[in-house]
Amino acid sequence: MKTIIEPFRIKSVEPLRHTTREERERVLREAGYNLFLVPASDILIDLLTDSGTSAMSTEQWAAMMRGDESYAGSESYFRLKRVVENLTGFRHVIPTHQGRAAERILFTVLCKPGHVVPNNTHFDTTRANIEFTGAEAVDLPLPEAADTQAALPFKGGMDVGALERLIEERGRERIPLIMLTVTNNSGGGQPVSMANIEAVSRVAHRHGIPFYLDACRFAENAWFIREREPGYADWSPFDIARKMFSLADGCTFSAKKDAFANIGGLLCTNDDALARQEKDLLILTEGFPTYGGLAGRDLEAIAVGLQEVLDPDYLRYRIASTTYLGKHLAEGGVPIVQPPGGHAIYINAGRMLPHIPRHEFPGQSLAVELFLHAGIRSVEIGSVMFGEHARNELLRLAIPRRVYTQSHIDYVVEAILEVNARRHELRGYRIVEQPEFLRHFSCRFEPL
Ligand code: F0G
Repeated sequence: MKTIIEPFRIKSVEPLRHTTREERERVLREAGYNLFLVPASDILIDLLTDSGTSAMSTEQWAAMMRGDESYAGSESYFRLKRVVENLTGFRHVIPTHQGRAAERILFTVLCKPGHVVPNNTHFDTTRANIEFTGAEAVDLPLPEAADTQAALPFKGGMDVGALERLIEERGRERIPLIMLTVTNNSGGGQPVSMANIEAVSRVAHRHGIPFYLDACRFAENAWFIREREPGYADWSPFDIARKMFSLADGCTFSAKKDAFANIGGLLCTNDDALARQEKDLLILTEGFPTYGGLAGRDLEAIAVGLQEVLDPDYLRYRIASTTYLGKHLAEGGVPIVQPPGGHAIYINAGRMLPHIPRHEFPGQSLAVELFLHAGIRSVEIGSVMFGEHARNELLRLAIPRRVYTQSHIDYVVEAILEVNARRHELRGYRIVEQPEFLRHFSCRFEPL
């Protein structure tokens, strides 16, 4: 059989509510045209993020009932630790309430003003947490990834030559760690090849610099390696993931992505002294090291999710369903970042709306129009999110795991093609109010 089906059936459903165009116009005005400020009950299809939005399995819900809510030494923690150790090989497994808490603790311990942290592409919270310590976050994507239309198998990797030059120019002692984000979220959800992970690991270790994975979407990345990198077709996703982790000295992880959990994160390392410092900080703001800001039941959900996500049937379906959205948009003439990524499709709004200049936020204009037209929520990944660091003006359609069916995605395709047909009518926006950090979450806009 050729047809790839959702490898699950639905036991519990949530109704979706249609709104009228007038309602959506009012909601948008009240939200300052920022979709983060729109109540979720007014959204029909929510593609804002794949983070924390997964549908949990019956096994995860069952495990939650087993949650041991002891303050210290919870059995749930030890169950999670065994799963994570087995997968990653890291001895120290520190739970946090989500990925950015792991980042904040790691960078607070390792970074200070004058330091530089290279990454293939920093996610927004990663960059902000590094900059908050006074250090500099440097993106070193592959030069060929700049062409959003080039359909290369592993566009998410790091430019290893540029990494070597950075170490040479800035000095090894100013680089407290090197990170690789798998898959590369801000770079279009593109995967990183095992060869690239190995090359970055080699450079890091030659210079004695710790090498970390930002492992949010490690399982999706492992599937791409299996499908696209010579030599891995017979490997299980688990073995590929294990090899990826074995090349690193530690990782940050948001369990809200490839662990199907609605909350949670992890900070892992093999460095005993570092782990001690991290746990001291953890106690200050997150909680005791055996729960780290989570309930025991959350730890259980993560432990089960980390095993489920590596099921080949799930990963085959997951990557195929994202590709399906990308393929139908591209065939309809919408410029997407090629090839389709793992967790999301990115529309190149700069290309789609060339009459809207960068400083008038073409990605935001498209996001607002998609909501107005069809009640779909997406997110701008461009100059609103990254300011002058933005390489492209993108609109991300992130796909929650195990939540939407193919007909939901067909509806999304139809809506976007209809907007594309009258793209010349779309207008730009200006920001009228913004905070100091991470402005995209709360700034307000006005249409021009
Ligand atoms: N790193 C990457 C690559 C991410 O995509 C995210 C979150 C984080 C770190 C932070 O994790 O949210 O648990 O604190 N990305 C979400 C997104 C928010 O929509 O892409 P978190």
